[in-house]
Amino acid sequence: MTVLPVIVAPDPRLKIKAKPIDAVDDDVRQFMDDMLESMYASNGIGLAAPQVGDDRRVIVVDVARTDEDPQPMCLANPQIVGVADEDRIHEEGCLSLPEHYADVVRPDAIRVRYLDRDNEIREIDADGLLATCIQHEIDHLDGILFVDHVSALKRNMILRKLTKAKKLAEVNA
Ligand code: NI
Repeated sequence: MTVLPVIVAPDPRLKIKAKPIDAVDDDVRQFMDDMLESMYASNGIGLAAPQVGDDRRVIVVDVARTDEDPQPMCLANPQIVGVADEDRIHEEGCLSLPEHYADVVRPDAIRVRYLDRDNEIREIDADGLLATCIQHEIDHLDGILFVDHVSALKRNMILRKLTKAKKLAEVNA
């Protein structure tokens, strides 16, 4: 397995609309495994293909606590087919917006349909942190970052700081 470098915002590759895949074949499975490896290497709970420069509609999540066994999930072509009326506020972070966090409001529970690692169509109900995480990752497939859900003031502040940090990194490289 390969740890793929995670792209940090602002970057045009994070704004793409990813494309549906035809089927989960060996190539996609390998990619899913690499994505899981990359997510775990960064202590993340979710990762979407565009974050590693890929334009396929593939996400991986694992919201298990550190004292629990891993619960890796691989979702291809994930689609939200139902949402609860109740909302949930969660302070979100993102491997592409390192060290920045903001409260985001999303439906508390969702039903999601996807192709699993074995190319089977699955439909699951998710709530709480899992629901938040899956919605955050599906957003990535449509070029949406969690900062797009907060005020322009907060978004611009975060993106400005990330731009500054990138410039500093270039100077020091
Ligand atoms: Ni993210």
